Amino acid sequence: IKYTIVDKETCIACGACGLTCPGIFDYDDEGLAYVTIDHNSGNKEVPESQEDDVLDAYEGCPSNSIKIAEEPFNGNPLKFG
Ligand code: F3S
Repeated sequence: IKYTIVDKETCIACGACGLTCPGIFDYDDEGLAYVTIDHNSGNKEVPESQEDDVLDAYEGCPSNSIKIAEEPFNGNPLKFG
């Protein structure tokens, strides 16, 4: 994987991703997750050192709100379906 983004429309603020991968995910005032490295645009490459944790967060999200892709998202979590 290279890029990740949170679909804040479907995030249920469960709080798992920030625990699993604190280097990439944090929460806004409402507890909704976002990607910290690029203001949740999904345009900045995830550092290699974070890739395993991002994958764990992706697999652990109960609402499938974490998206991952090999190409930038340009701010659209649904860009790749
Ligand atoms: Fe939201 Fe999923 Fe994280 S529900 S808080 S994006 S684990």
